[in-house]
Parts: sequence; C-alpha cells; structure tokens
Amino acid sequence: MERQKIVAGNWKMNMDFQSGRLLIQAIRDKVGPLECKVVICPPSILLKTGSNLIKDVHNLALGSQNVHQEPKGAFTGELSTQMLKSVGVEYVILGHSERRAYFHEDDTLLAAKTKAVLDSGLKAIFCCGEKLDAREAGNHFKVVESQLKAGLFSSMSTAILSKVVIAYEPVWAIGTGKTASPGQAQEMHAYIRKLVAKEYGDDAAAAITILYGGSCKPNNARELFSQPDVDGGLIGGASLKADDFVAIIEAAH
Ligand code: PGA
Repeated sequence: MERQKIVAGNWKMNMDFQSGRLLIQAIRDKVGPLECKVVICPPSILLKTGSNLIKDVHNLALGSQNVHQEPKGAFTGELSTQMLKSVGVEYVILGHSERRAYFHEDDTLLAAKTKAVLDSGLKAIFCCGEKLDAREAGNHFKVVESQLKAGLFSSMSTAILSKVVIAYEPVWAIGTGKTASPGQAQEMHAYIRKLVAKEYGDDAAAAITILYGGSCKPNNARELFSQPDVDGGLIGGASLKADDFVAIIEAAH
C-alpha cells in the first residue's frame, strides 16, 4: 500500500488576519495540481476563513495548532474539538516541543488531548523528538519511544490508526537552521515504524505517515523526503513564504 505523503505548515504565532489570508490564498493557488496532501495550520483566528478559502481544493486541509481536552466549560481562552470541527478543521497538532516546553504539556495531558481529538473524529499530527542533550547522550530512541507510548499509543486503537500522523521533530533542529541529516531522520523514522509495528502490527506500521520536522527548507527537503521512511514534513519557518512552502511540497510530490 502506498503511504499518504503529507506536508504540513505550522505557522505558530505568526501572521495577522490580512497577511494570513493572502498566504493561504497564495498556497491554495499553487498546490491544487499536486498530489501531495497539504495541511495548513494557521493561528486560530484564520481557521474559519481558511476553510472557506480551501474548500474546493481536494488535497488541502486545515489544522489547528492546539486544542483543549475537555468538550466544553469554564476554560478561559481554550478551544474544544467540536469548536474546531465547526469551522472545518481536519487535523490538530499535538505534542509540539514548544507546547511541551512553554505550556508544560506533559505525557498525561497529551494522552488526554490525543483521546479527545481521536474520539471527536479529528486527525492528530502527534509530534515527538529529543533535545540535544538526549541525542548527545545517545538517549534519543528512548526519549521518542517513551513520548509515543505515553502520549499517543495509550490513547490510540488500531481502528483509528488511519487518523494519526506522527511527526519526528528533534528539538535541536527546530528553528535553529540545523537539520537532522537524512541518515539521522531515516534511522529514527524506521525506529518509530518498528514501534508502531510492535503495538499495532506490520500493516499498520506500513500504512502510517511519519513526517520529519526541524529546519526543513527547499534546499534540503528533497533529500530528506527521499528516505524510505520519511513521508513528508512538518514545516515551521519555511511555511510562512508561499514559494518556499510550495517548493517543499513539490519535493514531496
Ligand atoms: P522549523 O519548525 O521548520 O521552523 O524548524 C518546525 C516545527 O516547529 O514544526
């Protein structure tokens, strides 16, 4: 079975309503003819407009950068899965290292968020990745394994595996201009696929999309994406320029 290639853009806290709208339009106008699935994850103020702008483009989808684990209630400032669905969101990024670090999202919270997302019918882009000290100490496989087991596998049944995308994002590569080498990415992606095989079987492992993230740019995307277990990318900085983002999508095409 051919795995789905995906390139997702994580805008983080960048762009305002006007500039973001123009960027979504520019991306939309260029990706229609490409086969690769593209997920745009803008700030939440752009989700409703974004879903209107992309509704006729078959390979474009919208993602949220966050969600609350409870269905509703007194959680000032938060958004629920139902709210996201009501404006046409399809994907939610979970476990991003910035949310783990700055918003103290731990494995227990992430397991609850994963469960809320998958129960609601939304799809999860679940991020994992080690910090530099863990890589230097040779603990990177252990860190990624424990993040996946605690935050994702604990809430995921085989039946909903098709709703999950895993993103490997070494923290030392995010926003630093330092990319994992294609060999380092491939080695970790193959390891993650083996973990999925152990929990859910070989077919599930062969079918799951695993993205690479961390300073992925037009000049390194093709080599990263040509690795057998790298099925696309989660792109931060380079997703804010239409031409760069489209060049990366073309590299996955
Ligand atoms: P970057 O970010 O491409 O700017 O390194 C990736 C991410 O944080 O998802």
